[in-house]
Amino acid sequence: MKPEIKLHDKTFVPFIPYEKVCEAIDTLAEKINADYKDTTEPPVILCILNGSIMFTGELMKRLDFDCELVSMKVSSYDGIESTGKIRQVMGLTGSLRGKKVIITEDIVDTGNTIDALVSIARSEGAADVRICSMLLKPDVYKKTIPIDYVAMSIPNRFIVGFGLDYNELGRNYKDIYVLKSE
Ligand code: IMP
Ligand code: MG
Repeated sequence: MKPEIKLHDKTFVPFIPYEKVCEAIDTLAEKINADYKDTTEPPVILCILNGSIMFTGELMKRLDFDCELVSMKVSSYDGIESTGKIRQVMGLTGSLRGKKVIITEDIVDTGNTIDALVSIARSEGAADVRICSMLLKPDVYKKTIPIDYVAMSIPNRFIVGFGLDYNELGRNYKDIYVLKSE
């Protein structure tokens, strides 16, 4: 891990190493594999671009049941603040009709995004919708819908890496970094 990284005007320091992220994803995948082992119709993994792309890839490598992959792109963050408004930037790349859907997200913060995504999945005819997030900020989450699968919970800090960005930079780092407190 680098001692620090600079993205735009901000500095980030090491927070969660790649190895720890992978261990948490191992455990999560075991749980999902157990829950879906008897499913006959292949579920759809719904990857929420761009943030979830690395997590979805890392998770899917560990899933041992047949599944499809569909993506869509939404945006709610501007800089380091959640705007609360969810914009659908790119539509679904495949059908969810009648499918069991597992939404894979990078991080659940206020829950506004996941709330909107569940509504979209239901309105697209999904038979069942579950939420799977690599990270959760439990102190900020203010919705009532349960997050079915979470790899790790973190405090209310702004992070980058492993798919997560600060104004589109930082997604490529495999370790997770946190905004340096001034
Ligand atoms: P929510 O709608 O407030 O739950 O925000 C969820 C979305 O905001 C995530 O999918 C991320 O794209 C983004 N986000 C939330 N927290 C962070 C963070 O700490 N770093 C980078 N992006 C974040
Ligand atoms: Mg995201």
